[in-house]
Amino acid sequence: MSAASSDVLIVGSGAAGLTAALNLADRFRVTVLAKGALNEGSTAWAQGGIAAVLEPGDTFANHVEDTMVAGAGLNDRDVVEFVVGEAPQAIARLRALGVPFAEEGGALHLTREGGHSHRRIVHVADATGWAVQEALQRAAEAHPNITLLPDRCAIDLATSRHEQRYSGAGNVWGVYALDRASGMVELHTARATILATGGAGRTYLFSTAPRGATGDGIAMAWRAGCRISNMEMMQFHPTCLYNLEVKNFLITEAVRGEGGRLINPATGKRFMAYYDAERMELAPRDVVARAIDAEIKRYGLDYVHLDISHQPADFVREHFPNIHEKLLGLGIDMTVQPIPVVPAQHYTCGGIVVDRDGRTDLPGLYAAGECTESGLHGANRLASNSLLECFVYGEAAARHIAECWDTLPAVPAIRAWDESRVTDSDEEVVIKQNWTEIRRFMWNYVGIVRTTKRLQRAKRRIDLLTQEVEEHYGHFRVTADLIELRNLIQTADLIVRSALHRHESRGLHFTLDYPDMLPHVVDTVLVP
Ligand code: FAD
Ligand code: SIN
Repeated sequence: MSAASSDVLIVGSGAAGLTAALNLADRFRVTVLAKGALNEGSTAWAQGGIAAVLEPGDTFANHVEDTMVAGAGLNDRDVVEFVVGEAPQAIARLRALGVPFAEEGGALHLTREGGHSHRRIVHVADATGWAVQEALQRAAEAHPNITLLPDRCAIDLATSRHEQRYSGAGNVWGVYALDRASGMVELHTARATILATGGAGRTYLFSTAPRGATGDGIAMAWRAGCRISNMEMMQFHPTCLYNLEVKNFLITEAVRGEGGRLINPATGKRFMAYYDAERMELAPRDVVARAIDAEIKRYGLDYVHLDISHQPADFVREHFPNIHEKLLGLGIDMTVQPIPVVPAQHYTCGGIVVDRDGRTDLPGLYAAGECTESGLHGANRLASNSLLECFVYGEAAARHIAECWDTLPAVPAIRAWDESRVTDSDEEVVIKQNWTEIRRFMWNYVGIVRTTKRLQRAKRRIDLLTQEVEEHYGHFRVTADLIELRNLIQTADLIVRSALHRHESRGLHFTLDYPDMLPHVVDTVLVP
């Protein structure tokens, strides 16, 4: 087994990971691992933009209030104020890195999305994430102190349990990771490790998230002893394209922000007035997704329509060039006809518990971005607050590591990965079958509308699959698929256990058995 060491190890090369790396690299040797290509995370897929208070008519207090309302009060107000207050500087730093945000009349163009009381979303047309990823990656590739290692799939954290002479200190010293090209497991050690592994969207059959969103960081942190919070708060985006071939293409909320209307194809009428007469199509995501779900079930539909064809064709093409082109390729011209859409899993609001410095429960381990529960999003993330959280917490974790560097202990000798008792698997089919099975029952039993009975049904299946997967994991050489399957099932378990814990409906967690919201606000916190 090969071993490599750096000062700081970052698992994840999206917005959170690369922000942390760039903030550390002038002082420290930083290694960044990604399990596929560097740009394969959700960051590159982001469409709508980044929320920030940037015009005189808007205030931080408005942005804080909108975030708390969307989050159904489960947010930590101090954290919300902290992140919202940092947003303008985060945007300024991205501009300095060369992100070409859209402008109008010499100022940044601000678009609008659901739940925002003002126009405050900076964007690069409808492909903001791609531009952000490119700028961060370009800067990281140019920095001599940053080593970028794609195709390394982290398996587990290396902790005190893996020390050659057990110290009992409970530290994290890096990760064991599979080099996908060689098939060998490497040890990557560091004095500080940051998990920036993104979300767990692929726990669900239909998701807007990329293939790698399998909750790896959340599962690794849980196995190592970190608390995990609010995993029942899985966000469903209201408008994913309905298409039999292209299953996970998002139609940005900014389409509704720029006037797009939701229409029931059976009645030909707008329906949001029945669900939220005041905010209509721009109500927070949980409200709009539930409304679409209800219309689909009530009328036996496959999808509803999202229609922006009443806007001038040039306006539509200018604001949504990528979506327009993609849809044209599928035979839909959004300048003259409606787009068929359905809700799909989109964002993981819960995750690894972190404090304001991105610290987890374990010494030496930090986390940032979608894999965390920082207190920002509460029971439902406000649109375009996610990339913002990545920038603010990527930087916060880096700042804390730099400040307390001299107190971080040196890495002791860590045991090599033990492969002496495993063989190659001849049952790859089991992995594929289990992947599909989990995602299907999570969609059917742990989706937009839940019941205790359905959650319990899901839990029984998870328990069975956990047994099977652990047996497989114990006997066979690890592959990326097996690593992801193990994490997927672990994450599914955390989601279902959290959902069973919450005896109310709040934000994204809606259950027919407890339809009301309780007067008191409590986080769901699972302790290993
Ligand atoms: P990611 O960008 O997902 O990166 C995760 C990284 O971790 C990847 O490099 C991956 O390879 C690596 N990784 C994971 N597991 C392992 C492992 N085991 N070993 C090694 N590496 C690993 N948010 C907004 O604020 N505005 C938007 O407009 C917006 N639009 C979106 C559109 C879509 C289609 C989607 C899916 C999400 C959108 N979001 C948006 C959400 C936002 O994009 C994500 O929350 C955010 O990019 C997450 O960034 P991250 O750095 O935490 O993780
Ligand atoms: C979108 O563009 O609708 C996604 C924005 C987000 O997820 O914040």
